[in-house]
Amino acid sequence: MCGIVGYVGREQATPIIMEGLRRLEYRGYDSAGIAVINGSAVHAVREVGKLKALRARLEKEAPRGTTGIGHTRWATHGVPSVANAHPHHDCTRSFMLVHNGIIENYAEIKDELLHKGHVFVSETDTEVVAHLIEAFYSGDLLEAMLSSMRQLRGAYALAVISSHEPDTIVAARCGSPLVLGFGDDFNLVASDASAVLSHTRRVVYLDDHQAARLRPNESAISDLGGNRLEPKIKEISLNLSDIEKGGHPHFMIKEIFEQPSLVSDVLARRISPATDEIRFSETRDAELGLETVKKIMIVSCGTAYHASMVGKYYLENLARVPVEVDIASEFRYRNPVVNEETLVIAISQSGETADTLAGVKEAHGRGSRVLSVINVEGSSIDRESDATLYVYAGPEIAVASTKAYTAQLLSLALFSLYLARKRGTIEPETYDEMIGELRSIPAKMQWILDNHETVRTCARKFSNAPNFLYLGRSYNYPNALEGALKLKELSYIHAEGCSAGEMKHGPIALVDSTFPVICLVPDGKVYEKMLSNIQELRARRAVIIAVATEGNEDIARHCEHVIHVPRVHELLSPLLTVIPLQLLAYHITINKGLDVDQPRNLAKSVTVE
Ligand code: F6R
Repeated sequence: MCGIVGYVGREQATPIIMEGLRRLEYRGYDSAGIAVINGSAVHAVREVGKLKALRARLEKEAPRGTTGIGHTRWATHGVPSVANAHPHHDCTRSFMLVHNGIIENYAEIKDELLHKGHVFVSETDTEVVAHLIEAFYSGDLLEAMLSSMRQLRGAYALAVISSHEPDTIVAARCGSPLVLGFGDDFNLVASDASAVLSHTRRVVYLDDHQAARLRPNESAISDLGGNRLEPKIKEISLNLSDIEKGGHPHFMIKEIFEQPSLVSDVLARRISPATDEIRFSETRDAELGLETVKKIMIVSCGTAYHASMVGKYYLENLARVPVEVDIASEFRYRNPVVNEETLVIAISQSGETADTLAGVKEAHGRGSRVLSVINVEGSSIDRESDATLYVYAGPEIAVASTKAYTAQLLSLALFSLYLARKRGTIEPETYDEMIGELRSIPAKMQWILDNHETVRTCARKFSNAPNFLYLGRSYNYPNALEGALKLKELSYIHAEGCSAGEMKHGPIALVDSTFPVICLVPDGKVYEKMLSNIQELRARRAVIIAVATEGNEDIARHCEHVIHVPRVHELLSPLLTVIPLQLLAYHITINKGLDVDQPRNLAKSVTVE
């Protein structure tokens, strides 16, 4: 949800800011802009659309100067237009500001400022902050920012520059992520560490209600009261190769193909090779009351919500704890019954999703302990939780989540087995069997990736279908939802996911001969039930594409197309059946000539509610 970056140093700022924006473009791509101080003037360039439009403009008029800020926008207030693109400025154009988040009380601040004679040129909430800083400025940009922060409600990460203080960037945070990067003779600020990584590994994650003044050789962090704080400097462990495409045409396909090695690495990290014991050093078991917990509530959004649904099946089946799952934006407003006896699990790839973060705060407010299942270390949800279980998927840059999903499923399976062991709800033989099955997953995932010709055939055949239906039962019901989400968010084809048992309660009315139906039918307890559903669909002339277990010859008699996945314990089958669904969405999107890494209207981390 918007990416911001700033540089102050001795080099030309424009190329450094543009490289930072390239890393942050996954956060939004409705418009982009930069502002650079040149002597006593500030030169801003803004363009509608993806970063490449701004880049083309800059080839003709790159602002010169060594202090600057940049922004890539995901529109909240105001359509994508040049007027609404950041950086925004005050009446005198001497303050330029970029923002990620939402200023909730912008309308009342704007009214006051209009009353005092300020002139506004955009429809954004952000512009009020530039005018507030103008109003408060009396020779100290940091002071003006702190005074403005005291007026603001909502979420923000801000960076401002001013022609009054040409060698300075002031940045501030409340609810939206912000990282400072420290170098020799330069400093940076950005929405995440990937944007500073090619210049420095020394970073500080700003906390809420903190502001920082950056100059080439100086950095000062202060709290809202203006008290100076000691910076807690961290080293980034990320490598540049982790955030490049590595020879693949798109991030999404790179990330899909990373899944076997990711699973291998996580298994090696989590399961002792000597004893087969699962290790979760970070869960702080006693504090969370894992052995005695009465109820678990999982909150999350989107793909992470689908992983949570699978998690419910795992935790209930293996650890025998009652589990509720809720979409974070609903959990927050429905007066949920959670208390000191409930463990709330928040699942999020980015760790920044505003609704999930709000859910964590809500849970804390009701006395629950929170365990988060997170990919991005140091993220807001990570820091807000009592304990965090990292899924170790590595940076996920494509907007559509793939490897983070399988990493979430894997961590939930491991955690459920761990909990089952602790609570004495699993037989040793079953535990051993599951460990063996888990260890077989990487090779089976690789087999699917190496043998996905049928997926390509289906993608070619059905790229122009107007609708898709995805059906699954039990462990694979959430994957039906996930498959449909992947297809619709990338290819803009209408797709619905549904529990196969629910189909005849409504969705079957949609089906006709033009309607491809993807049925997830790996071998297992619900296989026969799925076959009955397939018959019901065939009776309505639906075109069936089955995702079934390798070696099942029977299924071909009932379907037009069969995509095979290797045999695995049915509990772990979602880790395999999701891969053809990811690949299908990828190939259909490519066939349609669409941007698979940056689908329209979306952004990777949803930092507004
Ligand atoms: C879909 C997708 C989104 C995210 C959702 C939650 O492909 O990526 O649905 O899963 O926005 O994001 P996180 O996991 O970062 O909280």
